[in-house]
Amino acid sequence: PSVAWETGADLVVVGGGIAGLTAARTAAARGLRVLTVSKGSSTDTATQYAQGGIAVVGAEVDDSIESHVADTCAAGAGLCDEDAVRSIVTGGRAAIASLEAAGAEFDRAADGSVTRTREGGHSVRRIIHAGGDATGAEVQRTLDGAVPTVQFDTTALRVLTTDGEVVGLLVRGPRGVGVVHCPTVLLATGGLGQLFSCSTNPAGATADGIALALDAGARVADLEFVQFHPTVLFAAGTTGRRPLISEAVRGEGAHLVDVAGRAFMAGVHPLGDLAPRDVVSRAIAELLHDSGGDHVLLDARLVEHFHERFPTVTASCLEAGIDPATDLIPVAPAAHYSCGGVVTDTAGRTSVPGLLAAGEVARTGLHGANRLASNSLLEGLVVGERAAIVAAERVGTRVEVTDLALPTYRRIDRGVLQHTMTAEVGVVRDAAGLAAAQRALAHGVVSEPPVDARAVEDAALTAAAEVIVLAANHRRESRGCHTRRDFPESAPAQRRSLHIERDPDGQL
Ligand code: SIN
Repeated sequence: PSVAWETGADLVVVGGGIAGLTAARTAAARGLRVLTVSKGSSTDTATQYAQGGIAVVGAEVDDSIESHVADTCAAGAGLCDEDAVRSIVTGGRAAIASLEAAGAEFDRAADGSVTRTREGGHSVRRIIHAGGDATGAEVQRTLDGAVPTVQFDTTALRVLTTDGEVVGLLVRGPRGVGVVHCPTVLLATGGLGQLFSCSTNPAGATADGIALALDAGARVADLEFVQFHPTVLFAAGTTGRRPLISEAVRGEGAHLVDVAGRAFMAGVHPLGDLAPRDVVSRAIAELLHDSGGDHVLLDARLVEHFHERFPTVTASCLEAGIDPATDLIPVAPAAHYSCGGVVTDTAGRTSVPGLLAAGEVARTGLHGANRLASNSLLEGLVVGERAAIVAAERVGTRVEVTDLALPTYRRIDRGVLQHTMTAEVGVVRDAAGLAAAQRALAHGVVSEPPVDARAVEDAALTAAAEVIVLAANHRRESRGCHTRRDFPESAPAQRRSLHIERDPDGQL
């Protein structure tokens, strides 16, 4: 491409959510020259929409690191890396203190103590929250104030490497195509919810970091574990981003019923309505499959002071003509979170020197086959901060950009992708559906190197879909968020993560 501008930095952060901005803030405080780029605007992040809160063990509560580790590993269905879990969970309290020092205010009781709620899979009330159910918005507000110079409307095109090590980033922004010469790039690009017709994710959740990392030679893992949130506000025929009904609503006493009023979670799991998220989504999906229905109902009428405790949920429901204080809320599962991603350690290091990843795009081993509720903001904070420290260690590494060529990607029409992934690679999968998905994906066109923002996104979504279908086909068992109707049990021999990378010809 013809390059309109060049600059240098010690660290380039791609993404403006909790992980990216925490890294940018920490690195800047250590004197690094940081460039943060985001393809959208400041509130186009998944962080902005996070409701329930942040899972963190407090000094003042009847909880322990080991209990949080145990709950995380139980939810993760045998695939969590227990050392990674313990490391990240242990980092939580200091990370929250740092966020509070930057101005974040969490909800407190009359006696001044931080109030905590409960969500699926947690054995105690350990989740702190802000604005009732607007935790993410408070985090985003705080970090936007702490990182004032983000270059918006800027798409990352390629991580540049020389001899397998990061030397820069090729981007396209309002000033055209530019090269940033830098020894470290942090991918903090979020998730891939736009692969599915209905998702809680913002429009920009298009797997960008997965494609950039694969192209740079990094490995990905656990991408077959797409988490579907069980309670997303249902309205017939709607697609795109749908409002979340936080699990904390069930944490405060609401329960699920089918359209005939039967409380179907009783007997499915000892935690009932507060079973881990994969269990609840699967129970709903199977019920809808068997009954031919399209939604179930959440009864929150006995939750005290609902409107004050859940203002965000209340607003979404009222807009749809439903008052949660008096009406049952129609809900159905929708794509919510990618448990897998770019393989990293707990400081964000990938297998490519200088390439870091943090937040939803990364796979640290914290989530295993199913993320525990409210562990994602925690991970973004803890790993984001550590990634900045790794970047500081690389300051001064000599960089020499030798190749500016753009990659050539296969690209499939977004509507076809969403239809295929929703129909064949949703909550419950089987061999026939996965084979149909593979056939649909094989029809992608090999595009010119994409620089147009939408084409870059479609290429990234296509790459992620290929990995998910490959891994889902390979995993002939049911585990966590990956349910195979044809292999309903977990297979002990498959209790390991599949690592996937591109070969020199670009094949997975
Ligand atoms: C929720 O509030 O239910 C979502 C929390 C999460 O995704 O961890």
